[in-house]
Amino acid sequence: MNILVVGGAGYIGSHCVRQIVAAGHRPVVLDSLIYGHRQAVASDIPFYQGDLADQPFVRQVLRKEKIDLVMHFAAFINVGESVSDPIKYYKNNVVKTLALLETMLEENVKKFIFSSTAAVYGMPDTMPITEDVRKAPINPYGQTKLDCENLLASLAKAHGLSYSVFRYFNACGDAVDGTIGEDHSPETHLIPNVIRAALGLAPTLKIFGNDYPTPDGTCLRDYVHVDDLARAHIAAFDKLGAPGTELHFNLGTGRPYSVLEIIQAVEKVSGKKVPVEFTPRRAGDPPELCADATRAREFLGWKPQFDTVESIIETAWRWHSTHPNGYR
Ligand code: UFG
Repeated sequence: MNILVVGGAGYIGSHCVRQIVAAGHRPVVLDSLIYGHRQAVASDIPFYQGDLADQPFVRQVLRKEKIDLVMHFAAFINVGESVSDPIKYYKNNVVKTLALLETMLEENVKKFIFSSTAAVYGMPDTMPITEDVRKAPINPYGQTKLDCENLLASLAKAHGLSYSVFRYFNACGDAVDGTIGEDHSPETHLIPNVIRAALGLAPTLKIFGNDYPTPDGTCLRDYVHVDDLARAHIAAFDKLGAPGTELHFNLGTGRPYSVLEIIQAVEKVSGKKVPVEFTPRRAGDPPELCADATRAREFLGWKPQFDTVESIIETAWRWHSTHPNGYR
């Protein structure tokens, strides 16, 4: 299949491009390069720089490359920024997604895979989280993702769009060969920040709160390798044949780790001590998020290949220790 990967030069998108090639399909990348990195995409992959909401441009790409299915990774992801600048988030994450979908439907491209997030659930009472748990986002980032999910449901019913939504828990890890990886600016995610502190690139790792109702007082999260996320997307390709198909999957390993456990795992993998500093809680952090991914396992035959956090951190250590400034 010819797959248009919107946001294919970003962290998850670029890893997905590689898995698409490995699975024998043909990726085409569209990325604005506002946050993406040109070097994250091999030079032999067709690459178009531009905006997903530029309808004449996207129309031309869909036609020229005979696109069968679109995957959309081009969202803004910084939760804190979404609180301080919601217009930026609604414009990029919702309005531009609407424009992309409109262009697709006009061009009769009706298969779509959407990157969603555990943030659509907010702070659920039940753990682990199944897909039918109530959606109650607690920040604009999560709300924009849920708005897109609702839009997809309407388009499936009105126009026969077939789609799959993947709600990622904590995406992490990097390519096994160490050649592409996570490079966010600013970096807010735990594992890259712990590694930066281990490498001496940051004075300390700030631990945001140790008074949570968890065994060691720090937050629990479900860390899932980016290549495992990508493989779930590819497994959904042949489930989107019937018009109006609507699929929703949580993606996580189902084993939560605390912030302190992540620090210990980085110390074990790297052989280095991580200097830490305890600070107050970060606003909006739920104590625990853990996926029940039974549906992906049963319906897609998905099985995470990285099933321990050490195996994930080994890949992250390889990337960050050899690319201390990311792609720069
Ligand atoms: N943390 C620290 N210090 C840091 C960074 C993170 O203590 O420097 C802690 C956080 O407080 C949290 C845990 O490490 O308890 C994980 O934090 P991340 O920022 O790595 O990830 P989040 O769980 O906050 O966010 C992830 C995705 C979001 C998504 C969210 C779903 O990155 O896109 O899960 O709730 F919205």
